[in-house]
Amino acid sequence: MENPSPFEPRLTLQESAGRLRLTDKRVWQFIEQGRLAAHYDRTLHRWFVFESDLQEFAQTARGPGRPRRTTPSPVSQSNKDGGPPKPGQERKTPMAETRTLAVFNQAGGVGKSTTTRDLGYELATRGQRVLVIDADSQGSLSDFLGLDPYGKPEAEIFWTAVCADMDTVPPLATAFGLTVGVSNLSLIEGIERLERMKDHLRFLKVLDGIKADFDVVLIDCPPSVSEMTVQILLAVDELLIPVQPEQKAIAGLVIVQKEIIKANKRRLRIQNPLRISGIVPTIFNPNLSVHLNNLKYIETIAQTLRCPVLPAVRRLTAVTEASTYGQPLKVYKPSSPANDDMARIVDCLFAETAASV
Ligand SMILES: Nc1ncnc2c1ncn2[C@@H]1O[C@H](COP(=O)(O)OP(=O)(O)O)[C@@H](O)[C@H]1O
Ligand SMILES: [Mg+2]
Repeated sequence: MENPSPFEPRLTLQESAGRLRLTDKRVWQFIEQGRLAAHYDRTLHRWFVFESDLQEFAQTARGPGRPRRTTPSPVSQSNKDGGPPKPGQERKTPMAETRTLAVFNQAGGVGKSTTTRDLGYELATRGQRVLVIDADSQGSLSDFLGLDPYGKPEAEIFWTAVCADMDTVPPLATAFGLTVGVSNLSLIEGIERLERMKDHLRFLKVLDGIKADFDVVLIDCPPSVSEMTVQILLAVDELLIPVQPEQKAIAGLVIVQKEIIKANKRRLRIQNPLRISGIVPTIFNPNLSVHLNNLKYIETIAQTLRCPVLPAVRRLTAVTEASTYGQPLKVYKPSSPANDDMARIVDCLFAETAASV
């Protein structure tokens, strides 16, 4: 049978129990027996059942039929260290688990690296332990944080350990209170090695090994789709999509959407679908009517992606200057209104950390 859409509605166990007119406990028993497919959302700390699985179960099961989706057995996951808890034992503490976000858009020049830097810095000023990973061989993020990626030998580059299948922890730098996984042109060769490795979960495993030390991991994706992007989209829980309110950039969102669908198909057996945390309109000029109009198109696309449009980041010269000087905007020019834009984005994305400002 065909796989369901990755954006298919899903229900909590309580909602599923209500639909089936069963107790929560009975529904969980069906899941434990492998008769009803469920998946654990590590961001929301909850179990979910896809609507189509529930319908199929309601029609055929309660009999001996097997679920069509081959999710890992919740029983084995629940009992392993670090695996998802059983219902009722889910963690209630916000930010208790590391949030992993890829800043993703296949188009270049839409503000991915800038957004990663300033979002990361804003979170760090709120007391969050932030890891930002530069996944672009251009090394812009590293450069925008004053780290001179080209002055670094290959051994100091985050991806060397990942792409060489080395059993060592990737090297991490620090800048402005952020921990940084630096990248440079050596990543091009690294991606070739990653392709030869034929282990699509290589980055997922590396990330799982280091993320516990951080509250938030932000990955600045390259403006192309390669084995590296595939691995990033398999490894993270959430996506943030920066887009300029320009017609060409908006049209490019169709390609982004296709990549998300592809990634979610790959993730079906191992991960929950990607959570699209929002589209960020970037390099936005509120005085341009064309930009204001294009925001409406972005809203429409966000509806099809079932995600919010986050506050826009204004186009201001200081943002580019900050990059030239290798500093977060808030360090280079604390009075810049674009800092307020970034703070508003953090308020929306990380509501639970807003109180600590
Ligand atoms: N809010 C902004 N205002 C003005 N310039 C910006 C803004 N955000 C990004 N830029 C500039 O746009 C260019 C592309 O941004 P960048 O973050 O490198 O995009 P990407 O990573 O998507 O290629 C850079 O020169 C950057 O300084
Ligand atoms: Mg970039």
